Amino acid sequence: MKTTMHPINNTKPNILVVGGAGYIGSHMCKFLVRHGYTPVVLDSLVYGHKEAVKWGPFYKGSMENKDLLGHIFQKHKISAVMHFAAYCYVGESVTEPAKYYRNNVSNTAILLEEMIKYRINNFIFSSSCATYGEPVDIPMKEDHPQNPVNPYGRTKLMVEQMLEDFHHAYGIRHICLRYFNAAGADPECEIGEDHRPETHLIPLVLQAALGKKEGISIFGDDYPTADGTCIRDYIHVYDLAQAHLLALEKLLNGFSAGHYNLGNGEGHSVKEVIRHASKITGQVIPVQIAGRRKGDPAVLVGSSKKAIETLGWKPQFADLETIVETAWKWHKAHPEGYAT
Ligand code: UFG
Repeated sequence: MKTTMHPINNTKPNILVVGGAGYIGSHMCKFLVRHGYTPVVLDSLVYGHKEAVKWGPFYKGSMENKDLLGHIFQKHKISAVMHFAAYCYVGESVTEPAKYYRNNVSNTAILLEEMIKYRINNFIFSSSCATYGEPVDIPMKEDHPQNPVNPYGRTKLMVEQMLEDFHHAYGIRHICLRYFNAAGADPECEIGEDHRPETHLIPLVLQAALGKKEGISIFGDDYPTADGTCIRDYIHVYDLAQAHLLALEKLLNGFSAGHYNLGNGEGHSVKEVIRHASKITGQVIPVQIAGRRKGDPAVLVGSSKKAIETLGWKPQFADLETIVETAWKWHKAHPEGYAT
């Protein structure tokens, strides 16, 4: 165990953040500390970055390590678990599904079993709009049919279903948060988005603005949208963190189970994102039109009415400009990403 760089004197409960060295998990840790909680990070560092763990005790290891989980649960008196440790490359999940079913499903089952053993009943799960598959209605609501079109989405749905069964059988209380497109970074620039390999639109566009890439390939400009490119609902990583905090407090106050979409309810096309990035960075971003990427729906936009009305969620960084600006600030300050 290593203690990280920001000393914490919080009085609220300790929260285990599995995947706390990753993009969303690390922002969650900073947000938890700001609100009086102590994050305890468990991360294998397969995709996470040691440098992103700056708050609370840190354990390097996998959620399938039962001894380590037992040790953490006992030593830190954990009140709730937040799970950000899924693998999330949609394309890879098609070519290497075993890796996704093992990590995202089997290892999550191990984590939950250990929670049951140590009587830890509160679980917040990073789910995805990928559980819905091809949209039938836009904006998508929580009762939209769930027919995922790739193994990644299926693993997320399986965990949602597992949680329902574990709730009935073992009393695991849980909230599943279905993210749309997570984006942006800590405006104080301490942490940001660094996936290796990077496949997400906004970081790739910003790498092109920095001259780290020759330009950006637009995956299809013949979709049935106004400018022919795909439309997505981008949601700031701190707005996701705020929703997790509200979900946590709801569970700690006795709520039993629920599912919430997290998006801004507004779609932006790939071309629109590139235009904003060009304006914010002051750089010309070279573009080439490539073929469609397999499995990309034309439009994914969510309705988050339920999270707003029943969790009390109030997104603070909703406009695309702010999302791209915060991401740009981090990329400009860390052109090579994290060092570790
Ligand atoms: N895109 C490009 N060029 C690129 C990269 C992306 O044109 O170089 C396009 C994609 O085709 C898509 C849009 O930009 O239309 C956004 O792509 P991202 O890869 O950034 O995000 P996705 O919408 O594919 O994926 C996100 C999350 C996944 C989640 C999925 C749900 O990253 O984890 O939403 O469908 F599963």
